[in-house]
Amino acid sequence: MDTTTPVRLYDPEFNTDPRGFYRRMRAGHGPVVPVLMDGDVPAWLVIGYRELHGVLSDSDTFARHPGRWNAWDRVPENWPLLPMLAPLPNVLCSEGDEHRRRTRAINDAVNGADPHELRTLVTRVADRLIDGFCGRGAADLRAEYAERVPALVLCRMFGLDDTTGAAVTSDMNALFNAGPDAIDAHRRMVGVFTRLITSRRAAPGPDIVSRMISHAAGYTDDDLNADLIAVLAGGHQTTGEWVGNALRLMLTDERFGSSLFGARSSAREALVEVLWEDSPSQMNAGRFASRDVELGGRMIRQGDLLLLGYAAANQDPGLRSQDEGPGRAANHAHLSFSHGEHSCPHAARGLAETMAVTAIEVLLDRLPDIELSVPADEVRWRPSPWVRGVIALPVSFTPATPQGDL
Ligand code: HEM
Repeated sequence: MDTTTPVRLYDPEFNTDPRGFYRRMRAGHGPVVPVLMDGDVPAWLVIGYRELHGVLSDSDTFARHPGRWNAWDRVPENWPLLPMLAPLPNVLCSEGDEHRRRTRAINDAVNGADPHELRTLVTRVADRLIDGFCGRGAADLRAEYAERVPALVLCRMFGLDDTTGAAVTSDMNALFNAGPDAIDAHRRMVGVFTRLITSRRAAPGPDIVSRMISHAAGYTDDDLNADLIAVLAGGHQTTGEWVGNALRLMLTDERFGSSLFGARSSAREALVEVLWEDSPSQMNAGRFASRDVELGGRMIRQGDLLLLGYAAANQDPGLRSQDEGPGRAANHAHLSFSHGEHSCPHAARGLAETMAVTAIEVLLDRLPDIELSVPADEVRWRPSPWVRGVIALPVSFTPATPQGDL
């Protein structure tokens, strides 16, 4: 096989069978694969665990600012992937001291939430959503629950009302789907956060936005706007898919079936397993080589873009052969939260875990006989190369009475 022929990432098969796609890429091209994104824009996709770990650990050689990219002249103006790669004044794109300043502010602002109050907020949001469908005896857990819990919790933590939160959530979905409406969706989100920042500068509250405004990081409005979008983008969809994928696992895998009835302890187990097997963050863009460098047998040129194949690296057979067995659920060496300077901030991981565990526990407490209402193989995955999540998760259960605001 010709290992230099680039693989088209927009091949529909990548969306329907990413695992098989990674297997074939690994066999044909090795750990670092030349790929073509939409519009045949070239990049490298890093799918080897060792290689990806190396890239993420060395932020001097594999740097973050998209201004370093050597293929900007090949990007059309209305390119759907532009929101993923455009150089924005945010934590994702910044480097060095500037990056450390922003990460500290985000960690402090997220950590500023009282853990007990946070759990109470997640429980309230979860209970309210369940009240909306429990009388029906049926629901789509993805659309009506998994995706909405983190979106509503994060928007409340930002100080947004639920209606604005819902609009922002739908724009965030458009951004991730990288379709033709992605650019407009991004513009609308900037508008919402501009108004929010103005109102919090005038009247601060006990929320993430106010804590970031008053942080020693000394944010300008534009910088803050960009980081708020980064925090919401980083947090809502990934956590929603994490909950959805864990519920799918618990509802379809017989190892969880026998214990699903009131199964509090298995929620954490399913959540960790999903980070290995169906990582919500499947792939991300990216890093840019700051100099010519050899990686996994390839010569990467200065300015080349590297796409980060977290899900593929987690499935690297080289890693798996040393790590099979019952201890796996406790093994957190997966790269689903990335690694190194630009990995998911620690406070954000803690917040994601609180939201996910609480959402699953509350659901199982309220609707203990919940079961999938379609055959397991009819649960389909979303057609996205970036995010891994189910399209729908239809379930049935014994109808229950709404609790209201107890
Ligand atoms: C299951 C849940 C989550 C997953 C799987 C996840 C995954 C990730 C990954 C893979 C990155 C690294 C991107 C890179 O290497 O360039 C990242 C970064 C980030 N995440 Fe998360 N995340 C989750 C939840 C959250 C939450 C709840 C928040 C916010 C409250 C958040 C905020 C961020 C931010 C701000 C960054 C940028 C870090 C930087 O560039 O320095 N994430 N996340």
